[in-house]
Amino acid sequence: MKRLTIPAVRQRKKDGVTEQPIVMLTAYTARQAQLLDPHCDLLLVGDSLGQVIYGLPSSVPVTLDMMIAHGAAVVRGSYHSAVVVDMPFGTYEASPEQAFASASRVLKETGCAAIKLEGGEAMAETVAFLTRRGIPVMGHVGLTPQAVNVLGGYNARGRSEAEAAKIVGDAKALAEAGAFAVVVEGVVEPIAVAITQAIPCPTIGIGASAQCDGQVLVIDDMIGMFERVPRFVKIYENVGDVIERAAIAYAEEVRARTFPGVEQTYQPK
Ligand code: KIV
Ligand code: NA
Repeated sequence: MKRLTIPAVRQRKKDGVTEQPIVMLTAYTARQAQLLDPHCDLLLVGDSLGQVIYGLPSSVPVTLDMMIAHGAAVVRGSYHSAVVVDMPFGTYEASPEQAFASASRVLKETGCAAIKLEGGEAMAETVAFLTRRGIPVMGHVGLTPQAVNVLGGYNARGRSEAEAAKIVGDAKALAEAGAFAVVVEGVVEPIAVAITQAIPCPTIGIGASAQCDGQVLVIDDMIGMFERVPRFVKIYENVGDVIERAAIAYAEEVRARTFPGVEQTYQPK
């Protein structure tokens, strides 16, 4: 199976219309990637791995080496989806040159097709710099979790007119700079709709609107593997319960000495 290309993802939206919405999920491990890959267009190695894999309090402490290790695992586990890797906090904001140095490492060491970075207008110059030098960029506006210390929390954005206008302006600036798609996170629905109508490249919503050109969710959230889930998450299956039941059954059998059974035990000939 041939991998979807970034230009093909960009072209899903033609003259403002996306007939086939873009399906994106996060993935952090090779096995997750194998299972999700056939059903997605894009796999995102999100810096949400800080919280969901490493138990960190936010995505702020996530390092480039962590992103590269998990990015490479997800590329190895996938054949069809285009893989996008998040640039972690502190590895791209200082200058376009810093962003290129970090992003080129991610592309070379993981084999991914594109990177994602957070921020709007302030990152537009960097998006243009990377794109012109061969690195496709996905933008991310609205609730940008790396800015938690500035935003003061993870509440939905854009409830005031000024903030709404700022977020729409951010998305436009990224699209003009050459972003191939823009994640719109945690905004009141009219903003997501306005951005989707305003920019020529696809919008990928999360806590945004069904009218976005695609959707993304954190895999652990949508399968019941993370303790706290925001309101915008739909839990499709509860894998957390399945794992807990397996552990309970195993512990009981070990304590009763009924595991291993005859089938799991080697005997001499
Ligand atoms: O890190 C992440 O998982 C993300 C998505 C929620 C868009 O950035
Ligand atoms: Na992220």
